Amino acid sequence: MGPWPLDPRGPQAEASSLVYWVLFACAIPVLAIVCGSLIYSGIKFRERPGHEAKQFHGHNLLELIWTVVPTVMVISFTGLSWNKLNEINNVDAGAAMTVKVEGRQWAWAFTYPDQQIFKLQDGTTLVAGEQLDIPVGQKIKIELTSKDVIHSFWVPNLGGKKDAVPGHTTSLWLQADQPGTYKGQCFEFCGDGHADMLITIVAHPQNEYATWAKTAIDDANRLNDPRTKAGRDTFLASACVGCHTVKGTPAAGKVGPELTHIASKPNIAGVLSPVNQENLTKWVSDAPSIKPGILMPKFKGVLTDQQINDIVQWLLTLK
Ligand code: CUA
Repeated sequence: MGPWPLDPRGPQAEASSLVYWVLFACAIPVLAIVCGSLIYSGIKFRERPGHEAKQFHGHNLLELIWTVVPTVMVISFTGLSWNKLNEINNVDAGAAMTVKVEGRQWAWAFTYPDQQIFKLQDGTTLVAGEQLDIPVGQKIKIELTSKDVIHSFWVPNLGGKKDAVPGHTTSLWLQADQPGTYKGQCFEFCGDGHADMLITIVAHPQNEYATWAKTAIDDANRLNDPRTKAGRDTFLASACVGCHTVKGTPAAGKVGPELTHIASKPNIAGVLSPVNQENLTKWVSDAPSIKPGILMPKFKGVLTDQQINDIVQWLLTLK
């Protein structure tokens, strides 16, 4: 099943769905009794030949019942909601880690906590886009903010939604009880790209989380290697990002092929093999002359030879 709040996979979502089901279960008999007696009275006491419709009042027992029962129900719902809200809003107690989440038009950025396992070699902390990886069975505190307009963070199977407000920090907590992939969505209309502002949370078994973190750190270190910074910066500042995705960077274009592991591919665009410096340079310089009709433009003349070489050096590290 897709993202669905009534399919809870963690204590946060369970708390909200329990309140929902209790209210729903009580609302059904109330609806039946109220509508049933309305229809019954309407038929039984209506004006008709041989029967005059008249006003009457003063049935103490009935009046007592329809005052006391709703009062007890409303007080119980208040108690239940109060109790569950305390649980839902209790973001700090027992949180295993705090992830800073920033919404912007139209993506999320997840900054992992300032802990040794998330440290990159340049001293910064791991940041990811689109996907947040968490350990199973642990309470994760999310500190939310926004760079531009109001967004709303919602991963229905794991917890309630919360607004991400510019200039302000809000927080919530999540916990996944089983390993898996949980989908979410920005829930506040925030412009053209709102529908594509997706969230993916992947929960790993606790004993595999450190291994995941190690791989993520290695990938990030490779992407942020100071020796290939020039090429990466040129790539991210040029038209490349409009068409290509490189996971772990802001490049998220969908028109061209993903380049996250281009250096491990057997060929370039199915026509140039192997993937090496010479072929990549040819390709980036003038792809249309190698594969006529291709959407990728010629970059020779647009970028300098040095810039093309920098990009190629960086691409070669994307294994
Ligand atoms: Cu961000 Cu809708």
